[in-house]
Amino acid sequence: MAPFERIAVVGLGYIGLPTAVALATRGIDVVGVDVNESTVAAVKRGEAPFVEPDLEVAVTGAVAMERLTATVEMPPADAFIVAVPTPFTDGHQPDLSCVRAATEAIAPKLRGGELVILESTSPPGTTALMADWLAEFRPDLRLPGRSGGTPDVNVAHCPERVLPGRVMIEIVTNDRIVGGLTRRCAERAVELYSTFCQGEMLITDAATAELSKLAENSFRDVNIAYANELSLICERLGIDVRDVIELANHHPRVDILAPGPGVGGHCIAVDPWFIVACAPEESRLIRTAREVNDAKPVRVAAQIVDRARAFVAPRIACLGLAFKPNIDDLRESPAIEVVEHLARDLDGVDIDCVEPHVGELPWRLANLPNVTLRPLTEALRDADIVVLLVGHEQFASVKGSALAGKVVYDTCGLWRR
Ligand SMILES: NC(=O)c1ccc[n+]([C@@H]2O[C@H](COP(=O)([O-])OP(=O)(O)OC[C@H]3O[C@@H](n4cnc5c(N)ncnc54)[C@H](O)[C@@H]3O)[C@@H](O)[C@H]2O)c1
Repeated sequence: MAPFERIAVVGLGYIGLPTAVALATRGIDVVGVDVNESTVAAVKRGEAPFVEPDLEVAVTGAVAMERLTATVEMPPADAFIVAVPTPFTDGHQPDLSCVRAATEAIAPKLRGGELVILESTSPPGTTALMADWLAEFRPDLRLPGRSGGTPDVNVAHCPERVLPGRVMIEIVTNDRIVGGLTRRCAERAVELYSTFCQGEMLITDAATAELSKLAENSFRDVNIAYANELSLICERLGIDVRDVIELANHHPRVDILAPGPGVGGHCIAVDPWFIVACAPEESRLIRTAREVNDAKPVRVAAQIVDRARAFVAPRIACLGLAFKPNIDDLRESPAIEVVEHLARDLDGVDIDCVEPHVGELPWRLANLPNVTLRPLTEALRDADIVVLLVGHEQFASVKGSALAGKVVYDTCGLWRR
């Protein structure tokens, strides 16, 4: 088959932009497509619109070499990689509206011979649905599995499993699940990913690929829920959960994860619901794990409220708002939920948030009159209660003297020893 001369990456977020850059640095012409004009403008200037180590320098280089450009208009291309958001609705049902919108934009650009890849994390059957949508928008084309003869367009699902903070390394080194609607679709996708991936290519069908990605994140969620549930049991019994876990993990076949203030981010807090949505009766454990993790921020906030009641008008410093350490991603962050509960339950109490990775409070907190974003040293100086919500490296070096005389509540165990 012909080599990929021009690839359109649809959605220039945490996944799409690093993918676009990885392809561009292999000498392929890449057009990044995004509905967000400010994202497109930033990429055109050679800037990364969010924090990810080594990304910006790579974007700058790719744009300067004229291998990467960005636009809001879908161009024709040899391959389309779709990396748009796949959130859930209020009722925990998958919201595929961005995938459908991207598919609708791609359809008129197809001439035959293209490869369309869904990278977005999706419920089983979404890649097949994408092919159905393409068939609906382009009845003149043969889509895989939809009509006889050799398909005009190949369609595959290649989920992403990079770790935020290590994306530029893992996008190259991780093994890659490649699920085709047909074997030929998968082989064509392997040709594309082989241009920049050094990991093993694991060929399967699209639905298996979709569920494999969801299974990975649900596995993490269930295991974190176990640690979080253990923390609640220990709290009731007055036992230090981290002592229990440390001792239990000496067992050669036990590896309990660390409890925390909850589970956030666009993946682990979301993807298990896609399994629950497609097999509700069979996924009782997965649903319960989600509920255990979702309930944790409320529980953490309630404990802090209890401690705050011992003061007349305490000032509380909440350290960290991101959903995990050393990144600026605030999506579904349990830390934000904890602060939100504190601000509402402790009327008149000032809450200083410290988040070194952002310049302003997220909208959920910005309209709360008693919540302010402040530098670390000032917030620590003025606080009666210090709540560590995220184990950012900037917080590891906080000296005991800065915490002396204050009530300290460490939700992530960073200051334990
Ligand atoms: N962030 C991660 O660590 C991670 C890891 C693995 C998988 N994923 C999955 O990858 C997908 C993308 O996630 P992300 O973190 O990159 O999201 P993101 O929100 O950072 O980026 C998505 C981008 O898509 C754009 N967009 C939305 N609709 C569009 C459309 N119709 N056409 C073009 N652009 C559109 C948005 O403006 C945004 O810039 C999701 O399904 C997510 O679950 C994310």
